Amino acid sequence: MAVTIYNEEGNSRGFNWVTKTNINNSQLQYLLKVDEKNISSLDWSNAITVDGVSYDYYDNYRAWRAEVLDLEYGETYYYRVGSINNDSFSKIGSLYINDGLESLEFIHVSDMQGTTKSHYDMWLKTINVMSSNFKNIDVMLLSGDLADSMGLQSKANNEMGWLLNGANNYLKDLVLTPAAGNHDTANNIFYAHFNVNLSNDQDYKWGMYYNYKIGDTEVIVLNTNDDLNNNFRLNSKQVNWFGEVLKNSTAKWKIVVIHEALISTGKHMNDRSSRYIREDLMPLISEYHVDLVLSGHDHVYSRSNPYLWDNEEGTMSNQGIEMTLINDNNHLKNYYNTPGTFYVTQNATTGVEGKRREPSKQTSEPEWFDLATSTINDKYMSYQPDAPTFGHLEIKNNKLTYSSYYVNNHDELVLFDTFDVIKDVDSNPKVNYLNELIFKAFLQADSDVIAEIDEQLTLLTAVEKDDVMLLTNYYQLRADYQSKISASRVVNKIDKLLLTADIDTSDIKEARTLYSVLSDEAKYYVTNYFILVKLEIEVGMYRRQVSD
Ligand SMILES: [Fe+2]
Repeated sequence: MAVTIYNEEGNSRGFNWVTKTNINNSQLQYLLKVDEKNISSLDWSNAITVDGVSYDYYDNYRAWRAEVLDLEYGETYYYRVGSINNDSFSKIGSLYINDGLESLEFIHVSDMQGTTKSHYDMWLKTINVMSSNFKNIDVMLLSGDLADSMGLQSKANNEMGWLLNGANNYLKDLVLTPAAGNHDTANNIFYAHFNVNLSNDQDYKWGMYYNYKIGDTEVIVLNTNDDLNNNFRLNSKQVNWFGEVLKNSTAKWKIVVIHEALISTGKHMNDRSSRYIREDLMPLISEYHVDLVLSGHDHVYSRSNPYLWDNEEGTMSNQGIEMTLINDNNHLKNYYNTPGTFYVTQNATTGVEGKRREPSKQTSEPEWFDLATSTINDKYMSYQPDAPTFGHLEIKNNKLTYSSYYVNNHDELVLFDTFDVIKDVDSNPKVNYLNELIFKAFLQADSDVIAEIDEQLTLLTAVEKDDVMLLTNYYQLRADYQSKISASRVVNKIDKLLLTADIDTSDIKEARTLYSVLSDEAKYYVTNYFILVKLEIEVGMYRRQVSD
């Protein structure tokens, strides 16, 4: 049994439950909580009944699905599934339909995979600790590898059962948002356990991608198994869809859940698929200001400093930007009003024997990953806690807080990492617009964006200008850009003079004059300097230059 958000609307719910094929009809029943009645004395005669639609996905197993749209925000509903004919029903679940405007609470888990029932005991133990500490969770984000036996429906089906049924007491009262991992690739195993309305005519055999918005928070789930026949590259159809969702989203907060990490210190970081994913997704994530990317796959814990994608360099960079925003003893505790994306790779939540990994040494490509240091224990956040681990995410007012915990031997939670992202909604729209433009200029400076920023700056009062972020950095960026542009103009002019067919001594003279006033850096760009020297020698004008 699993409850999901069915479509893009935060007040829709998808229900999915599994029976044997000898069950021929099954229903969902739900009713609005109207008073503080004991759950066992609810009057189900007033319930709304929805017939489950069945799907025989494996051997003698039948998946049932039902969905409910337009539930009332701010209300709590009770539900159960089962057979009206036989008067046999599941446990009663309770769902609070949070509009997300005040606060939203998430749990983030990953890689719970195991192959035996006893492997999932660790999951149940972790859930027990979680449930006694976090009682108002709206959504559980699962960043993949829920099952372990890739390609084997019989085994994966059991594993999904241990995961979902075992923890049902906790899971029945919240919403699950699963992303498929590479181990969730028994055919249709995801589709048969989670009822989500799938758009974009996608192939759901090995997972699915989808999005929804609750209040001011957009959650986008990607499917890294969607690279069939594609040479480890994500299907471009999915990448385009992702770009469109981001472009059209009006949400203040944007969170991406994806199994394979983009930034991490796990052993998969140099995999071909990981490199492709970075290449395909990071420009979009950066351009549309995703706040948080949550992953797994590497079975280690890592947390980045905020990242930007640099369109010119093709690499990631937050250099120069983070420094002005760091406070709190050089730790990124309060990170104000983006720009940048935090990448969290969550450790294997249950850490079943053999499933935990040590962070890999940063010897090759990942050495440019700029990871954070925890404000809690001063540890570099490339970390293996060697214990069950999960994240808690809260979005409240203008602040997003992500905190990571492990469960110690006494079943106590130990906080080992936390960071905030703060956005000030009350700030001036003119200032906000300028901040956006400046952010854009850092991604890729061009004369249009610089002209626009300069014009917008003239519209601000001095007090308003104080609120513009990174203004000093922007002035530096503009100066660099302008000297580069003016240098390149001169360089072009020199090239043109030297390459004309009817060149005369005045052209040579002019080229020399232009060259001599260039900065050393700009001189480097005069690729035809050797022609100038050759011409000067030919006409007897050449004098040895100090810098030759
Ligand atoms: Fe995994």
